[in-house]
Amino acid sequence: MILVTGAAGFIGSNFVLDWFETNNEAVVNLDKLTYAGNLQNLAGLQGNDKHIFVHGDIGDSALLTKLLSEHKPRAVVNFAAESHVDRSIHGPEDFIQTNIVGTFHLLEAVRTYWNSLPEKEKQDFRFLHVSTDEVYGSLGADEPAFTEKHQYEPNSPYSASKAASDHLVRAYHHTYGLPVLTTNCSNNYGPYHFPEKLIPLVIHNALAGKSLPIYGDGQQIRDWLYVKDHCSAIRRVLEAGAVGEVYNVGGWNENPNLEVVNTLCAILDELQPRTDGESYAKQITYVKDRPGHDKRYAIDASKIERELGWKPVETFETGIKKTVQWYLDNQDWVTNITTGVYRDWVQTQYSAVDKSNAK
Ligand code: NAD
Ligand code: TYD
Repeated sequence: MILVTGAAGFIGSNFVLDWFETNNEAVVNLDKLTYAGNLQNLAGLQGNDKHIFVHGDIGDSALLTKLLSEHKPRAVVNFAAESHVDRSIHGPEDFIQTNIVGTFHLLEAVRTYWNSLPEKEKQDFRFLHVSTDEVYGSLGADEPAFTEKHQYEPNSPYSASKAASDHLVRAYHHTYGLPVLTTNCSNNYGPYHFPEKLIPLVIHNALAGKSLPIYGDGQQIRDWLYVKDHCSAIRRVLEAGAVGEVYNVGGWNENPNLEVVNTLCAILDELQPRTDGESYAKQITYVKDRPGHDKRYAIDASKIERELGWKPVETFETGIKKTVQWYLDNQDWVTNITTGVYRDWVQTQYSAVDKSNAK
């Protein structure tokens, strides 16, 4: 079995759902259920006894020691993190605690467990750390995309905390020989994306008749990757990645924010037109820019393609259409988040999902 942390969040829950579509191996899902953790994402796994949910913190050493010795995973995939740049600007402390201190405690527990394994299992064990392209900082318009050799230059408390965790992971390999893998991925989008991030926020606000906030001039560029492509990349790296290596994962889809928002409006105009016949683009509003806003991220994903044969299946055009359709088909999921009902749902469903492992 594998231990996956943070798998009630956006990417982690997509990863676990995809895992069971392609695989029969059990997953222990350790998640603290912060505001970003939503067990409703995993409702489709109810009754699947190969998914074992454990409510807990990656910084809880005693819990980690117990879980590792009980379940004996052959791999750990670490998604758990505070992930929203704007929140890190307003309050960095949780980012330091989870992304740095939490990753440290996780690494320590995993190191002790790994050292206790018989030689063959020790060799086969993997610790896969899921990170971001934001650790590399911001690119100028004409600079080449980030390769794995690009210098770290994190600019926000979020990216600085992820950079610190990447360095710890690297050091645990270099110093203790822990068999680690690191992936640095570009901006994801797709189902179960918390509506504080650009794409789900714009879809939600458009349908609710609210303004669509564009920070600054909207010319900042992100490299968008459909979440299921990110999940397949992680599975591939886990399966075939070389120990100690870093793999950049991206969609080869650089788009300025304003273009992304206009694309979303055009798709919504087609699929669910406004009753007054106007375009949703009328709701676009320019607001004050994010402090320290990175201008451009772009991933050079040629290493993972060359060495592991992975490349994304979705283009931005296909992925974004699927995404908008998913939000239109799952308005209850969005409403449960925006009204806070998802937290109650967690309370009422908790014992059903987590019969034996609740702390
Ligand atoms: P998310 O915020 O949607 O989910 C994070 C999950 O981690 C939540 O379920 C939360 O409850 C859990 N969590 C937070 N603190 C925890 C702790 N101390 N212990 C256990 N669980 C905890 O984030 P996401 O967008 O799914 O991102 C997952 C990972 O991928 C993060 O490490 C992030 O840095 C990385 N990443 C995200 C993107 C993106 O575009 N979203 C891109 C590249 C990399
Ligand atoms: P976001 O989804 O927060 O991801 P990240 O900051 O990790 O890239 O933001 C994506 C881009 O969209 C980023 O340049 C900030 C911008 N943005 C807006 O213009 N308006 C918004 O309301 C949000 C949430 C983001």
